[in-house]
Amino acid sequence: MSVNFTQKHKHEMITFENVTKLYGKAKALNGINLDIQPGEFISIVGMSGAGKSTLMKLIIGEEQLDHGKVLIDGIDMSTVKSKDLPYLRRKIGIVFQDIKLLPKRTAFENVAFAMEVSGHRKDKIDKDVPKILELVGLLHKKNNFPHEMSGGEKQRVAIARSLAHRPVLLLADEPTGNLDEVNAAEVLELLLKINELGTTVILATHASDLVNKINKRVITIEAGQITLEQATKGKYKL
Ligand SMILES: Nc1ncnc2c1ncn2[C@@H]1O[C@H](COP(=O)(O)OP(=O)(O)OP(=O)(O)O)[C@@H](O)[C@H]1O
Ligand SMILES: [Mg+2]
Repeated sequence: MSVNFTQKHKHEMITFENVTKLYGKAKALNGINLDIQPGEFISIVGMSGAGKSTLMKLIIGEEQLDHGKVLIDGIDMSTVKSKDLPYLRRKIGIVFQDIKLLPKRTAFENVAFAMEVSGHRKDKIDKDVPKILELVGLLHKKNNFPHEMSGGEKQRVAIARSLAHRPVLLLADEPTGNLDEVNAAEVLELLLKINELGTTVILATHASDLVNKINKRVITIEAGQITLEQATKGKYKL
């Protein structure tokens, strides 16, 4: 892991400098300035179409910006060649609203598969997967298939999978969108726990009521612009 959270860090984890992203003539993002520190938990809230996913896509280099600059760990994304993007993405875990687990594989195998893909050996996989499943509270479901799990459990397996390559940054784009209140709160608790263990977390969501309760930094975007910044307030209680 190239970033050590226990020491003072040279760069912000993420910097957006006056970023504009166009789709045709429409501005999906319009002059975004944003600094995210290593170890931060930040929620990005906004209505459908506000630009939340676009912001995430610029961070992983899935889209190119039109004006401004995005720096990830001090690296200017415009200088990263597309063949090098997979290396950068290995530092990032991604979780989406629609959970795409491998349907014919168990919870254990879904996480193991992600580790295989990132080149880990079997002995390491056999050692690490139970630890990751334990972290998300699902070790007892390790032999269950996705159709034998609830929506919230499936999302927790998806989060476990996103942690398999030990990312320094976790992007969660509306991970609670398809979940009921109880499961959504559990997924949010899990993201907070992962953040406490040192991973920077960026959560995009419509659920402003939920994230307002956790007293972490919240930014609101409307029509591609940041319209509200709320700083961390201290202890949370869901
Ligand atoms: N590939 C695309 N081509 C054209 N327009 C796009 C594309 N992707 C997004 N947009 C537009 O950019 C704007 C921002 O979209 P974005 O997906 O970032 O919103 P969002 O905040 O994630 O919304 P939601 O909450 O519905 O996921 C919207 O107006 C959307 O229609
Ligand atoms: Mg979106």
